[in-house]
Amino acid sequence: MLNIILSGAPGSGKGTQSDLLVAHYGLQHLSTGDVLRKEIKTGSELGKQIDELISKGNLVPDDMMYGVIDHYLANLPKDSKGMIFDGYPRTVAQAEALSELLKKYNMEAIMIDMLVDEQLLIQRLIERGKVSGRADDNLNTIRHRIAVYHNQTEPIANYYLHQGNYFAVNGNHTVEEVFMQLERVIDLACK
Ligand code: AP5
Repeated sequence: MLNIILSGAPGSGKGTQSDLLVAHYGLQHLSTGDVLRKEIKTGSELGKQIDELISKGNLVPDDMMYGVIDHYLANLPKDSKGMIFDGYPRTVAQAEALSELLKKYNMEAIMIDMLVDEQLLIQRLIERGKVSGRADDNLNTIRHRIAVYHNQTEPIANYYLHQGNYFAVNGNHTVEEVFMQLERVIDLACK
């Protein structure tokens, strides 16, 4: 089973590369951002609370995310070839929770960090904002999301480094070039 934690700042290409990895390796794809946006669309009370957080570029509480991941893992198809965690974990507490959950479901995962220069992240997200309709794709919120990433998500790199389970790719290149780097890392890590 090939399980990948795909990490990186907003706009680093997690969603784009997840789609390619799913097609190439036949994996399941869990994007916590997509799950949360789906909940917002239902118009539920929970969705309204989530909307309030996401549209300001803040993270949803860790305990809420734990339930989402637990439910997803419990319902993975028996013949699954593995999965991609796209956008989870996003805090050290979530990384610890994920380690616990992986143990519970007898799974292992490698963490791959996609490193992209800040100016490029902003450019990509501003460009996407012209068509995405995402409430968080505007300059002020993008800047805040990047700051939240530095403060709350970046520290997970150390968590995985200490576990000897940290890999990184240079995400500043074209989609195809980044994908080739990911392939190389996965082949190396899973030998
Ligand atoms: P989420 O949906 O995960 O958003 P994000 O992390 O901000 O990431 P993005 O979707 O903006 O970017 P991406 O890295 O996927 O890049 P993409 O491939 O789209 O989360 C949204 C919100 O939900 C969070 O802010 C938070 O509030 C909440 N949330 C989610 N998970 C949570 C969690 N675990 N805990 C708490 N809260 C959580 O690419 C971006 C653009 O760049 C696209 O237009 C793409 O075409 C382009 N692009 C991609 N790669 C390249 C390339 N190599 N060259 C040129 N352009 C490229």
